[in-house]
Amino acid sequence: MAKARTYYFCQECGYQSSSWLGRCPECGKWNTFVEEMVKSAAPAAKTATTVAKATPKRIQEVTYGETKRIPTHCNEFDRVLGGGIVPGSLLLLGGEPGIGKSTLLLQTALAIHDRRLLYVSGEESEQQIKMRADRIGINTESCYVVSETVTQRIFEHVDAVQPDLLIVDSIQTVTTEDVESPAGSVSQIRQCTTEFQHYAKTTGVPVLLIGHITKDGTLAGPKVMEHIVDAVLQFEGDRNYGFRILRALKNRFGSTSEIGIFEMRGSGLAEVSNPSALLLSHRDEELSGAAVAATLEGARPMFVEVQSLVSSAVYGTPQRNANGFDTRRMNMLLAVLEKRCGFKLGAKDVFLNMAGGMRVSDPALDLAVACSILSSNVDIPVPPRYCFAAEVGLSGEVRPVSRIDNRVSEAARLGFERVFVSKYDLRNLEQNKYNIKIIGVSVIEEAFRNLFS
Ligand code: TYD
Ligand code: MG
Repeated sequence: MAKARTYYFCQECGYQSSSWLGRCPECGKWNTFVEEMVKSAAPAAKTATTVAKATPKRIQEVTYGETKRIPTHCNEFDRVLGGGIVPGSLLLLGGEPGIGKSTLLLQTALAIHDRRLLYVSGEESEQQIKMRADRIGINTESCYVVSETVTQRIFEHVDAVQPDLLIVDSIQTVTTEDVESPAGSVSQIRQCTTEFQHYAKTTGVPVLLIGHITKDGTLAGPKVMEHIVDAVLQFEGDRNYGFRILRALKNRFGSTSEIGIFEMRGSGLAEVSNPSALLLSHRDEELSGAAVAATLEGARPMFVEVQSLVSSAVYGTPQRNANGFDTRRMNMLLAVLEKRCGFKLGAKDVFLNMAGGMRVSDPALDLAVACSILSSNVDIPVPPRYCFAAEVGLSGEVRPVSRIDNRVSEAARLGFERVFVSKYDLRNLEQNKYNIKIIGVSVIEEAFRNLFS
C-alpha cells in the first residue's frame, strides 16, 4: 500500500508545494492553494517505464504509414479537427455548462456508425444518455454507453468492449484510485488525464475528454491538462441564440483558425454551412445604424450585420456599450471619428451590437462599425446591399485586410451591389473578375462622402 502524503496544489497552474502558500510562485495568482492527499509518486513512475520501449531513430526512418484519420461524419467538426480524429490522440472539449458539449460528442458517437465506440459518462445515467440519443434520433448498433467515474473501472469496460474511440464526459467527474483527493481537484485531473493519454498512446485509440469551464472562461482544472492533450477545442455561444461555435485553441494536427458553426435545435445540433445567410437580418425597409461587414473566421467568409444606436446622453457621462465587439476598439474608433472627421460624439450614448449574438474579432469590421455609428448619428441608412471590409487606423486611414479576394467574391455571391475596401487592396483585385462594384477608399471621410452625400 502506497504511503499517502498531503501536498498543496495551485488550482490555477498545478504547482505543487509541501506547505500552504498565499501566492503561487509559478503563476503569481493569490489564494489558489488547496490541500490534497497524494499516494506517493509510484504509479506515474510505473507508466513511464512501461512506455519506454522505443529506441531513438533517424527522423527519415520514422514511418507513419496509413494513419488514417477517423472521419466524424460531421463537416463542421472535421473542419475544426483538420479532417477527422487522429488515431492515438487525446482531445479535450471545453465549454460552459449547458452549451451542448455532451450533445455534440454523443451525436458524433452516434454518427460514427462504422466504428465501435464507448461513451463513458460520469454525469448522467445510462437512461439519461439514451433519452438524449432518442432526441438526436440516429440509430446505431456500435455505440456502447456506461455510467462510471473510476478510471480503473473505465479501463475494465474498455477491455471488455475494445472500442475504436473512447469518449469521457467529463474529466472533472472521474477519479483514479491512485490519488485520494476529490474529483475535480488538480491532482485527480492531472493523474486521470495522464492515464487516458497513456491509454491513447499505447493502443492508438483516440480519447475525447469533456472539460468544464470556469466562470472567467478558462478551462477548469490546471493548465497542465492543456499541455498534456493534443488538441483543445472550445464550444461557445450565446445561450439566448441558437448558434454554437466550435474553435480549436490548440491543435497538434491541424490549424487553429478554422471554426465550426452549429445550431441547437430540438433534435440536437445541426451543422450551419452557410452562416452569412442566417446572420444577415432580412429587412425590407432601410434603417439607419446598420452596416454589413465582410469578416473572415479562419478561411471562411462570414458576413455580420453591425447595428448601432447613437443618441444624446441623458446623464453627464455618456454610455458606451458594445455587444460582440471589443469596447476598447469601439472607443478608439469613436475617438478617430471625433478627431479626424469632426463628428461630435463626445456627448452621445453609443450602443453597438453584432446581429445574431456573434462575437467577432476580425479587424476588417472597423469600417462597417464606423459607418454604422455615423449612419445612426446622421440618421441616414446605409443601403442594405452595401458591405465593408477594411481596417481603420488611428489617423483615420483605411487599411487593407487579409484575403480580400475571398471576401469580395463571397460578397458578390451573396448578391451585394457594392463593397468598400481599402484603396491599397485594389491592387489585389481585378474589378471585372467580380460581379460587384468595388470601391477603394484611402481615408474614412471618403467612405462617408460616398455613402451619405
Ligand atoms: P448539453 O449537451 O447537456 O450541455 P453540456 O454537456 O455542455 O452541459 O446540452 C444542454 C442543452 O441543450 C440543454 O439545455 C438542452 C439543449 N438541447 C436541445 O436544445 N436539443 C437537443 O436535442 C438536446 C439533446 C439538447
Ligand atoms: Mg454535459
